[in-house]
Amino acid sequence: MLKARITGTGLYVPKKVLTNLDIEKMVDTSDEWIRERTGIRERRIAAEEEAASDLALMASNEALKSAGLKARKLDLIIVATVSGDMPLPSTACILQHRIGAKKAAAFDVNAACSGFIYALSTADAYIRAGIYRRVLVVGSEVLSRLTDWTDRSTCVLLGDGAGAVVLEATDGDRGILSVKLNADGSMWDLLHIPAGGSRMPATEKTVKEGLHYMKMRGNETFKVAVRTLEKLVLSTLKEHKLKPEDISLLIPHQANLRIISATAKRLGLGLEKVMINLDRYGNTSAASIPIALDEAVRSGRVREGDYIILEAFGGGLTWASALIKW
Ligand code: UT7
Repeated sequence: MLKARITGTGLYVPKKVLTNLDIEKMVDTSDEWIRERTGIRERRIAAEEEAASDLALMASNEALKSAGLKARKLDLIIVATVSGDMPLPSTACILQHRIGAKKAAAFDVNAACSGFIYALSTADAYIRAGIYRRVLVVGSEVLSRLTDWTDRSTCVLLGDGAGAVVLEATDGDRGILSVKLNADGSMWDLLHIPAGGSRMPATEKTVKEGLHYMKMRGNETFKVAVRTLEKLVLSTLKEHKLKPEDISLLIPHQANLRIISATAKRLGLGLEKVMINLDRYGNTSAASIPIALDEAVRSGRVREGDYIILEAFGGGLTWASALIKW
């Protein structure tokens, strides 16, 4: 039976660091509040000339290098993003051209913070079906452009970055074992950008009112996330007759340290088995899991044969998990 195995990972984060102390000078907040409520200390901010495809390109080149694969061998590129270069064309098409993946199909996926796992699942399905053999999956976000820098309830949370993985078909027992995707659109307004689409096209008025910035009902989102993530991970494990202690590493979406800790605690997992890097990058939406995965791989926290779980929760609402035998 064909499986999809991750054969290369990569990340790129912009050089500019914005610390909590820097944000203290911009809005009525404090380093202490941000650290205690979120776990974030600093985040990266893209340079003026950098857009999502620029970050994606750097991360993808790293992933291809570590897989030992040339871009021209790729069959498909999927980019998960809510902050693509422009509404049309897809960021994946721009990336396909810039990376030189001439024969690859390319499209974007929008599932907000769960976007990377949604994209991974799509790649996995194509590979299992025997349609494609080599797929590049990227999460890339320049959220700083969608952020209202006068709104303290959101601007302290977000950051820019990109992560990428190369997936290849294999007959072995290692690879993606299962992916679970969920959505509940009835809560779409907990996290959204009101203007700039067909519902409310951009006008002078929408720009003036900041309606093209991200709006979040943080506390309500927080509560649903904690409730949902434990169930999601447990059902993934149950399906494969695994216990939490069989997991070598949990790689959660990096939204809030309190959400991550609460989920780990409910699962009975010590934090040494949880990948955490949001202190350095903040919430980078679809990019957060592939960035964390790349750091985990390069720092030796993931070894051949390990079971790892990816899990995410975000706008839509959407939530998703993936169980991988590394
Ligand atoms: O990426 C996937 C989806 N997103 C998430 O999963 C994020 C989920 N939500 C969160 O991470 C948290 O809800 C936040 C970090 C956004 C907020 O933490 P909270 O504990 O839920 O705080 P809150 O929204 O209930 O606000 C508590 C207080 C409020 O003041 P009052 O009304 O109690 O006087 C806020 O006005 O904290 C105030 N506040 C701040 N104070 C200082 C909100 N933001 C700030 C701030 N600095 N930056």
